[in-house]
Amino acid sequence: MSADKEHRALYPGTFDGLTYGHLDIIRRGSKLFDRLTVAVAHNEDKNPVFTVEERIEILRTETRELPNVEIASFYGLTMDYAEKIGASYVIRGIRVVSDFEYELQMALMNRALNPRVETLFMVPAAEQLYVSSSLIKEVLLLGGDVSNFVPPSTEKLLRRRFNVPRSSPGAS
Ligand code: COA
Repeated sequence: MSADKEHRALYPGTFDGLTYGHLDIIRRGSKLFDRLTVAVAHNEDKNPVFTVEERIEILRTETRELPNVEIASFYGLTMDYAEKIGASYVIRGIRVVSDFEYELQMALMNRALNPRVETLFMVPAAEQLYVSSSLIKEVLLLGGDVSNFVPPSTEKLLRRRFNVPRSSPGAS
């Protein structure tokens, strides 16, 4: 990396239930680059629980102490958006082996689409390796405690959306 050029990275995702795993990647990424754009993909195929605006608001709340992180959203191809904002790197978190095949396919396709942008894989904190947004939703719906896995803003909105009060006992 040359010293004079600003190094900008893009962390794209659906972020439909921001977890501490995502935040861990964001924190680590923010230390590596001059600027990190975390961007919510408009991806209605995934039937998201949160609107893009809600996901952006949660991301803004949870990254407010990271001055070089900005939050955005985008339509279309990740590579087109990376080009548009001048990002030379895309970061993606890899948790378990099963993530790898999909991520490798995406990275190779993205490289074919835009060889100027490099994909970097990062590993989140060990205690977050088994966390995913859909698992969190399932645990919360069944009355489990998700506070170790998602920040309060995600939990609050999930409880409101699914009408699950905080003290829900689960089975009864
Ligand atoms: N901690 C916890 N969970 C994580 C995680 C981490 N560090 N990293 C990923 N996950 C989980 C998410 O919670 C999510 O779980 P879920 O499926 O249970 O909801 C899952 O992994 C994937 O989520 P995410 O990281 O948000 O990525 P995605 O696969 O939904 O999004 C895009 C992928 C948006 C990057 C991809 O679809 C894309 O690039 N879209 C734009 C269109 C495009 O360019 N298509 C061509 C691609 S080659």
